[in-house]
Order: sequence, then C-alpha cells, then structure tokens
Amino acid sequence: MPVLVLLALCIALTDTLTAFPPKFLVGNLNEDVVVKCNTSRQEVKWTQNGEPEPMAELVENGRNLTILGLDLPATGNYSCWAGGVLLDSTYVVVGDSGEGGRAASCRADSYLGSFRCSWKGPRSAVFRARLTRRWVSQPPAPAPPAPRAHSAFPHSDGSVGLWVPAAGHGGRFSANFTDPSFCPFAEELRPLQLSFEGISDTSFLSFSIHFFVRDIVRPDAPQALTAHLHEGQLHLAWAPPASWPLPRSYFALLYWLQYELPNGTQVDTFVEGTEQTRLRERVRRVRISCQDPYSNSSWSPWSGWREVGTAGLRRG
Ligand SMILES: *[C@@H]1O[C@H](CO)[C@@H](O)[C@H](O)[C@H]1NC(C)=O
Ligand SMILES: *[C@@H]1O[C@H](CO)[C@@H](O)[C@H](O)[C@H]1NC(C)=O
Ligand SMILES: *[C@@H]1O[C@H](CO)[C@@H](O)[C@H](O)[C@H]1NC(C)=O
Ligand SMILES: *[C@@H]1O[C@H](CO)[C@@H](O)[C@H](O)[C@H]1NC(C)=O
Ligand SMILES: *[C@@H]1O[C@H](CO)[C@@H](O)[C@H](O)[C@H]1NC(C)=O
Ligand SMILES: *[C@@H]1O[C@H](CO)[C@@H](O)[C@H](O)[C@H]1NC(C)=O
Repeated sequence: MPVLVLLALCIALTDTLTAFPPKFLVGNLNEDVVVKCNTSRQEVKWTQNGEPEPMAELVENGRNLTILGLDLPATGNYSCWAGGVLLDSTYVVVGDSGEGGRAASCRADSYLGSFRCSWKGPRSAVFRARLTRRWVSQPPAPAPPAPRAHSAFPHSDGSVGLWVPAAGHGGRFSANFTDPSFCPFAEELRPLQLSFEGISDTSFLSFSIHFFVRDIVRPDAPQALTAHLHEGQLHLAWAPPASWPLPRSYFALLYWLQYELPNGTQVDTFVEGTEQTRLRERVRRVRISCQDPYSNSSWSPWSGWREVGTAGLRRG
C-alpha cells in the first residue's frame, strides 16, 4: 500500500510544470477542445503527458485531436509525433474556476521605471506577467506634447514588452519589470497595467492590476549618516539613497530623523531640502528614513542606528 502511494506521488511530481509552457490551450470544463498539431503531415500519433494511452475520450482526425468533454484527468501535455519525432506540444488546461480577487503588490525604489511585484498563488503553479500602459477609455488623440513629456508608447493598444516569467517558491511569486518608456520628469497620466497568467496543475488563472509608479515608490534608506559633536552641538550629515534619481532639486526628499536621549526617550524630527542638521540635545543614538514629499509614497526603511558614543553624552 505505501509503495502505491509513493508511486502515485512520483507520477504527480513528474507532471508538475517547471516553466510556463510555450503553447497552451484553455478549455471549459465538460466542453470539447480541439488540439492542433502544427505540421504539414496528414497523420500523426498523440501522447498525453508522454503516455500513448491518454486519460481522455478522444477523436483523432488527421492533425486535429478533439478532447470530448474536457475534465481534469484529460488536462496536460499533448504531443504529436511522426515516427518517433516530436512535432508539436500543447498544454491543455481548464479555465479559471472563478478564483478572482487575486492581488499583487508592487514596489519601486526610485523613479527609473523599474519595479518588483510579488503575489500569492497555488504552490505548484507557474506564472508569467506582462506590462501594459492602460488607456483610460480609448487611445487619446494626439495631444500637444506636455513640457518634458516623453514619447508615447510604441503600440497604439498600449501594450509594451513581452511576457516575463515569474520566480516562485512555496506559493509566493515575484517578477521584475522595467517600463522602457517611463520618464521620471513627465507627469504620469495613465496607470500601468500588469496582466498575470498562471497555470496550476490542471487550471489556468489570470488577473490584472493597475497603478501609477508614483504610488508604489518606496525609496531605499538614506546612506552615510554621520554624527559628530562640535561646540556643544551634534552635527548630523547624510546622503540620499544611491538609487534615488538626480538632480536633487527636482527629486527632493523629506527626511525623518529619530534619535534617542540618554534616558531612552525617542524624539522625531523632520527636515526637507537639506542633508545635514544640528541637534542641541544630548543624544545616545540616531537613525534616518526618507520619503518623496510630492507623492503618496511610503517611507523608506530605516538606516541602521548610528551610536553617538560617550562623547555625545558629555557636555561639549
Ligand atoms: C510536453 O512533452 C514533450 C514531449 O515529451 C516535451 O518535449 C515538452 O517539453 C513537454 N512540455 C511541457 C510544457 O512539459
Ligand atoms: C507552426 O510552426 C511554424 C514553423 O515551426 C511556426 O513558424 C509557426 O509559428 C507555428 N504556428 C503555431 C500556431 O504554432
Ligand atoms: C482541424 O480543425 C480546423 C478548425 O478547428 C478545421 O478548419 C480543419 O478542417 C480541421 N482538420 C481536419 C483534418 O479535420
Ligand atoms: C529582481 O531584482 C532583485 C534585485 O532588485 C533581485 O534580487 C531578484 O533576484 C530579481 N528577481 C527576478 C525574478 O529576476
Ligand atoms: C528624558 O529627558 C528629556 C530631556 O532631558 C526630558 O524632557 C524628558 O522628560 C525625559 N523623559 C523621561 C521619561 O525621563
Ligand atoms: C495615500 O495612501 C494612503 C494609504 O497608503 C491612502 O489611504 C490614501 O487614500 C492615499 N491618498 C492619496 C491622495 O492617494
């Protein structure tokens, strides 16, 4: 009995997809599906998941194979062959069983048009995703170019780029994207749309999300925070995150300094348009975070705590 269970597990594992199949067909449950062999030959032989005896009710007609009443055992990899030579393969799955409402969360660390998204899915699924810029209703008529606006998208349907394969582990998936036409100096008028497609065992899943890059920006932490005592005051200086675009006058940052007094009390202070400040208080340690003041973006992660040391605890 345990041997049988193991055997069944092994068979299930060998059928698991490791990459998005190049050619797939989405059918409806209990409806017929026609799989075509892309060949000039008139007669071919079919296998399902490598088996010459498919677990499906089939009608063969030259290069066409009709799966009658698609059910879960009938899904999988259909390959057509001629004399032991593989001609074509199509992965057959059933359509999304209404598992809508999926969400992905995306983050950019600057305004350079690159970002990363992650989402949840079935453990055994493979995913791919594609970036498009969504037209609000119809592609707009050519408008007078806005100052500093970047050229429009190459395709009038708003589609950009290719499908990107997603990395996945334990049901969490992620993918990196770059919008080649993103312009950090232009106002973003249309949201980006991301379409996701997944194949899990036997089913096809799809969902899409849309957002503005400006709403997903989360700067990296500010860097090189230094603290030194001079004439009784603590001089703090730092630099913007390395990934933050220039010029500083245009891509301003709001800084949040948090410091700890000798008695453990935490104090918060905010400065904008500068990369240094002075504190009168005696300070035990200090850290810093930043945010884009002109968008609804998130605060960066905190820098590490900078210990001010015993010198900071004495009167200067
Ligand atoms: C389908 O089967 C063929 C033949 O065994 C193989 O070459 C191909 O990689 C398989 N496709 C997928 C997506 O597993
Ligand atoms: C059929 O095969 C030809 C040659 O390999 C290829 O160019 C074409 O895109 C294929 N068509 C489909 C529908 O897969
Ligand atoms: C295969 O199917 C296509 C359309 O699905 C049809 O046009 C064609 O005639 C079929 N071929 C055969 C040999 O039945
Ligand atoms: C996405 O980019 C991050 C670094 O920004 C990298 O660590 C990660 O491996 C990339 N993921 C993929 C799927 O390319
Ligand atoms: C900690 O020290 C600050 C300044 O010296 C003082 O204002 C504050 O009340 C103190 N807090 C506590 C909990 O003692
Ligand atoms: C800003 O973001 C918060 C939560 O992240 C959201 O509740 C709020 O509606 C946003 N405001 C604007 C103007 O987008």
